[in-house]
Amino acid sequence: MFGSRSLAGLGNIWRFSYMCYDNGGGAFLVPYFVALITTGIPLMILEYALGHKEHGSSALSFAKIGRRHEWLGWWMPVFVMFGIMLYYSVIIGWCANFAYYSLSLKWGQDAQAFFYKEFLGLSKGVFNLGGIRWPIFISTLLVWIVTWLICYKEINHGIERACEIFMPALFILTLVLVIWGVTLPGALNGIKWYLKPDFSKIWNLKVWVAAYGQIFFTLSLAFGIMITYASYLPEESDLVKNALITSITNCGYSFIAGFAVFSVIGYMATTKGVAISEVIDKGPALAFIVYPEAISLLPMLNKLFGVLFFSALLIAGLSSGVSLVEAMNSAILDKFGNRHQLTRAKVVTALCGCGFLGSLVFTSGAGLFWLDIVDHFITQYGLVVAGLLECIIVGWVVKAYILRKHINEVSSWKLNKAWDFMIRIFTPAVLLYMVGSSLIGEFSEPYGNYPVAALLLLGLGWIAATIVLAVAVTIPKWEPNKLKYERRPEEDHLIV
Ligand code: ALA
Repeated sequence: MFGSRSLAGLGNIWRFSYMCYDNGGGAFLVPYFVALITTGIPLMILEYALGHKEHGSSALSFAKIGRRHEWLGWWMPVFVMFGIMLYYSVIIGWCANFAYYSLSLKWGQDAQAFFYKEFLGLSKGVFNLGGIRWPIFISTLLVWIVTWLICYKEINHGIERACEIFMPALFILTLVLVIWGVTLPGALNGIKWYLKPDFSKIWNLKVWVAAYGQIFFTLSLAFGIMITYASYLPEESDLVKNALITSITNCGYSFIAGFAVFSVIGYMATTKGVAISEVIDKGPALAFIVYPEAISLLPMLNKLFGVLFFSALLIAGLSSGVSLVEAMNSAILDKFGNRHQLTRAKVVTALCGCGFLGSLVFTSGAGLFWLDIVDHFITQYGLVVAGLLECIIVGWVVKAYILRKHINEVSSWKLNKAWDFMIRIFTPAVLLYMVGSSLIGEFSEPYGNYPVAALLLLGLGWIAATIVLAVAVTIPKWEPNKLKYERRPEEDHLIV
């Protein structure tokens, strides 16, 4: 069943760990769970309900609400496909590289130096690309080929079966790392840092914005994915229960994985004799330093464990990667499929071909810088703004109570007016405040101390380009019967 599937992806392991570390550990967890309750769950229910009611991809669902709002239904899959997926595929590729490196524990005694110098060959700055890193290039190419094959041949069943084995495996392997990690000397200091809220940091707005962004990312909210997948759900689907289970298991998994990360960080701080906040460089490399370090510390079967862990992560990443491409594919087929005789084969080939070319820059020596900037802006000003607009359109144009009526007709757990209040007023007000303040902060202190030109070009420029593309595909009219009510064929094998 759709809802019983957890949404584990790279967001749980790779993104959660560095977001949490960069934002003060315990200081991050409080806003993270507040964000889950005040935005994650209400919005997950909204997206499930919208797709289920309108029977369409995000583009078709918003077009059915009104042609004026259709661009939003395009913007989401556009910035996901031509933003997030471009670097997400490279990180899936890193997992493949590390599964291979595990065979010889290639990172040796210093996983941090290995990652930055030998693996990434990090260049001197954003605009100094430093050439393609061939191992990363090859793994990224393979990721795109596999993604293309899965989408092209519609072998979702296959990847779903793989997920059924690898997702629980990933969870068990993580648990082993957690259990082993807490026995390491200094681990408890790391865990204390992870769990103890530092109230001097909690009031820092940046931490809140990061936590809200992480909730959007990990739950794939405002990606267009949930709307699309829900459009294939059977008529009688318990939307509320599905949304709750999906959101809570996903965030619960990240929370548990955090124990493994912070035990090892505590251990590293003790052995190096430095403060926890200083033991490792901040940023998106963290999981690829801490997990190899943890794998090396295991008392036995390190190599086998490493191969299994990174392979499981690879499968989790691939299944999410497929869903990112599918959201765009589905929107294109809904609108242009019949009229231009576009087939799934043609669309996924074009998308994966362009996607691969777009990924190339992230396989260069400056790839980590590019990834960091694009991810920051797309999450904060793509996902969060799209989520805010979704709330406004559904809350005020569709009217929240009408969607709630649909939800309550099919769900065993009923929603009351509190949900309307969240969607119409509370959640958009919080998101608006976050985005507004964060935008003001962006001008006073450049993100990550990158050059302002890089932030404007790769951050705001990238976002602007996705808006232009979304508007361009909104302009052509739909075939007249397309916007009428039409049920999707039911599917019971969805992966997200
Ligand atoms: N939700 C997906 C992840 O967390 C994108 O990896």
